[in-house]
Amino acid sequence: MGEANLSFPYDFKELEPEEKTKLLKAYKTSEPDHKFDFVSIGPKKYKQLRTYCQDAANIYNMPVRSSDIFVISHQRSGTTMTQEIVWLLDNNFDYAEAKAKALHERFPFLEFFTYFGQKWEEDFLQSTDDKRKALKLIESIARPITGKLLTLPSPRYIKTHIPLSLLPPGLLDTAKVVYVARDPRDVAVSSYHLYRLYKVMNFPGTFKEFWGLFVQDLVNRTPIFEHMKEAWNLRHHKNMLFLFFEELVKNLPSSIQRIADFLGKEVSIEQMNKLCDHLSIENFSKNEAVNYHSLRELGLLASDEQFVRKGKSGGWREYFDKEMEQQAEQWIAANLRDTDLRFAQ
Ligand code: A3P
Repeated sequence: MGEANLSFPYDFKELEPEEKTKLLKAYKTSEPDHKFDFVSIGPKKYKQLRTYCQDAANIYNMPVRSSDIFVISHQRSGTTMTQEIVWLLDNNFDYAEAKAKALHERFPFLEFFTYFGQKWEEDFLQSTDDKRKALKLIESIARPITGKLLTLPSPRYIKTHIPLSLLPPGLLDTAKVVYVARDPRDVAVSSYHLYRLYKVMNFPGTFKEFWGLFVQDLVNRTPIFEHMKEAWNLRHHKNMLFLFFEELVKNLPSSIQRIADFLGKEVSIEQMNKLCDHLSIENFSKNEAVNYHSLRELGLLASDEQFVRKGKSGGWREYFDKEMEQQAEQWIAANLRDTDLRFAQ
């Protein structure tokens, strides 16, 4: 739970027995496992892997600098492309550095470590030949980073999927936040593929089984609507830029321009064209610096999945049968009743 004297205002609750049963069934096992060992946090019942508890108070109390730029989202909402835009705009379009240094090193992922438990680490070290590389990777992705963040020079770029209410209360009054939201049906499909890509998270079932967990808020970081609504309600704050994935892919240049304006950066026509080309799904999906190449080299990613994948809006239609479609419509309508948040298609 972090430093003994740091406060964290929420309880960590165990899941209900029936929720645990549902997870065991979906993961086709009778044994609890790190990859679905969630705690439920606070009144909104945010799910995080239990490993999160180690650093939750440090994260909630982390010192924030006025030069920090956070990119925040529920997972699979367009975080990576937004990070790359922010980083390039703020670093004078240094493509050489953007290629040479992996995005997760330029733009640390606050709770990346939560995916990796002690057992994973032991198994990984035992199974790999290149121990030196493996240890380096463990240091860079499988450890809490709140301590490391204190030592980074400004400006710092921080990626997180943690909802705003679990982040430092003064965050938005101090630093800049770019939040990205996406139609939850596409988030569900993309998350399903992510949990097949990361061997550590390996989801063994069908998309329909995964969707069953997603709508019941039994996937890491759900409930997604609470996550998005927290940010949506703060969208008019001067330090908040609220973006939709749908808008990013539909009109990339104007989305880049909005991010540039927010950061106070000028973009020439040539720079805009080059950045759009760099972000085209063809180029971006082949870009090793944003596709966790170091994890792939060490055998941690499934060979038939990609981190940057299709990059489309509405791709969920290929995955949903009539029953799921209706369930999704009702679920979305119920969750949008108390808000004017709507997804562009
Ligand atoms: P799909 O799985 O639907 O293709 P995040 O970065 O938050 O994990 O989001 C990942 C989603 O953004 C994936 O969606 C991925 O393909 C998409 N994406 C990443 N880079 C993109 C780009 N340059 N253009 C369009 N979509 C992109």
